[in-house]
Amino acid sequence: MAASEQRRAWVREAIRRIEADFQRSSDTHLIPLVLPGFPGIDLYVKDESSHPTGSLKHRLARSLFLYALCNGWLDEGSTVVEASSGSTAISEAYFARLLGLPFVAVMPRTTSRQKIAAIEFQGGRCHLVDDARAVYAQSERIAAGLGGHYLDQFTYAERATDWRANNNIAESIYTQMQRESHPCPTWIACSAGTGGTLATIGRYVNHRRHDTRVCGADPEFSVFFDHYATGERAIELQAGSRIEGIGRPRVEPSFVPGVLDAMVQVPDVWSLGAMHALSERLGRRVGASTGTNLLAALACARAMRSRGAHGSIVTLLCDDGERYRDTYFDDAWLSQQGLACAGQAAAVHRLIERGAWPDELLQTWRLAGEVA
Ligand SMILES: Cc1ncc(COP(=O)(O)O)c(C=O)c1O
Repeated sequence: MAASEQRRAWVREAIRRIEADFQRSSDTHLIPLVLPGFPGIDLYVKDESSHPTGSLKHRLARSLFLYALCNGWLDEGSTVVEASSGSTAISEAYFARLLGLPFVAVMPRTTSRQKIAAIEFQGGRCHLVDDARAVYAQSERIAAGLGGHYLDQFTYAERATDWRANNNIAESIYTQMQRESHPCPTWIACSAGTGGTLATIGRYVNHRRHDTRVCGADPEFSVFFDHYATGERAIELQAGSRIEGIGRPRVEPSFVPGVLDAMVQVPDVWSLGAMHALSERLGRRVGASTGTNLLAALACARAMRSRGAHGSIVTLLCDDGERYRDTYFDDAWLSQQGLACAGQAAAVHRLIERGAWPDELLQTWRLAGEVA
């Protein structure tokens, strides 16, 4: 068989395997979370931790592999490389193994041990760097050195994901909301790492002309909120985010502020307090970015209540908290990092139960757009 025929056959088989894997997978759940302190407002969390690789990044990894295959960027034996905070790399290692390709994840040395183990469990290799900002250049260099391909989620997340349909996360949310009291959410709130999930949700809402507002969420040590609030692009930070998976030290190409109606910057101790409170209310651990999402959703509830509006809000449960048992769920680690948050967790319970807004939060978070 001619080399070109052999190559075409390999690419086609690779796509068939990914589509077959998709066919074998069921959709993620939409879980109602009762807010006694906000009568008339229904909150739902989209549980992306139930994907085979435990996070929302399973969707992106599938899209990035299909995008690279259909662009002719991957061949039999290509080494696949990615710059990641961990979640994307776990999902990409899964698809690389499905296709029989070597996989290298370039990550900050601070990435949790569980995530590193999860990548190695999927057959991937981890390349750790001290400076989080060096992950891009290192990924390029490693891919070039091995004659492989750098998937580059930060650039292609917004391009590789089908924002019009194809059971993307937004289409799945609207389908699952159909029989609820308020089937069209007043708000969808979620945080950004690449910005790909927000771009997909915002574009889908605009394309389908849904009467839904989209609220972005940012942790400390990230530039997305300031970029949204000022339009300034050339912002760079020395240190990276402390909330794994979200927040970036530079404005990433896949962050699309034009799809947002509002943004919230949440102090890290409140993201972690909300993570603990939600884990207790769900009876299982969720990741820290889900805590950030919950407070952004509550900022949307606050805006609705100030207008006397009833309706529904949807946010994302991005990943399983078991990955952080040695960090965010370890009190000694939290106090060592200056992130002890028991008081904040208790305050978030009171906020959900009684709608009692903690002064410390109101004085330290930042709001922009229609929630301000
Ligand atoms: C745990 C977690 N939450 C949220 C996100 C944000 O997703 P996106 O990259 O689509 O903005 C990420 C991204 O890596 C993540 O790992």
